[in-house]
Amino acid sequence: MTQDYSKYTDEDRKVWKTLFERQQANLPGKAHPEYLNCLDQLSDVLNPDEIVNFDKLNEYLMAQNGWSVVVVPGLIPVDDFFKLLSEKKFCSSIWLRKMDQLDYLEEPDMFHDIFGHIPLLMNSDYARFVEEFGKLGVEYGHNKIVEKQLQRLYWFTVEFGLIKQNKGTRIYGAGIISSAGETDHIFEDDIEVLPYKVNKVLENDFITSEIQTRYYEIESFEELFNSVKELEESLQEEVSA
Ligand SMILES: [Fe+2]
Repeated sequence: MTQDYSKYTDEDRKVWKTLFERQQANLPGKAHPEYLNCLDQLSDVLNPDEIVNFDKLNEYLMAQNGWSVVVVPGLIPVDDFFKLLSEKKFCSSIWLRKMDQLDYLEEPDMFHDIFGHIPLLMNSDYARFVEEFGKLGVEYGHNKIVEKQLQRLYWFTVEFGLIKQNKGTRIYGAGIISSAGETDHIFEDDIEVLPYKVNKVLENDFITSEIQTRYYEIESFEELFNSVKELEESLQEEVSA
C-alpha cells in the first residue's frame, strides 16, 4: 500500500493546513521545545503548505536517522506493529479527517500519525526508545499479559506522555501534540500528573474513548530511553512467571 498523492482534494489540503497552523500556533510554551525544534528541522518536508509527501519525508528521514514511514490500512495486528517499529518503520494512515471533524476522531488519521509522531523521531534518545520498545514487543509480545502491558506503556509515553521542563510540565505524546483540545486540557486543573515509573505504568489500564485524566511525566528523553532496561526486566519476569 502506498500514498497516492494525486488523490488529495482541496478539502484535504485545507484540513491539513488548518490543523497544522492551529497547532503550530498553539504548541509553543506547551510542547517540549525539542518537539518544536524537530518540527522546525523537518520544515522542508513537513509544513502547512503542502500535505506531507511520504516519498520526500522518507528520503529526508532515511538520510538523517534511518527511520521511514510505511502506509497501513488503519489498525494492524499488534505483532506487525512491534515488528515495524523494531525495523525503524513507523505506521501511518493516508487519509485525513473532514473540515467538520477537526476536533473529533474515532481513529487516528494522517495528521495525527505524521504531525504527532514523526518529528520526535529526529531526537536520538526518543527514537532509540521507540525502536527498542518495538524489539521488546517482538521478543515478548506473544504473551497476552505482556502485550497489554506494552500497550499501556506506549499509551502513557508515545501517545500521552508529558515531560518536565524547568518552566513546568510540557507535552511530547502524539495524542496530545496532534489535538488542540488535548493540548489545552493538560493546562487545566483537573488532571493528575505522576512521575514516570515503568512498573506503575505497566499496571495502569486506560480508556481510549475518553479524554485522559492521568498522565505520567518523564524527566528527559534520556530517562525514557534508559527505562527500556527496567521494562525488559519486568517483561522477562512476567513471561517466566
Ligand atoms: Fe498515535
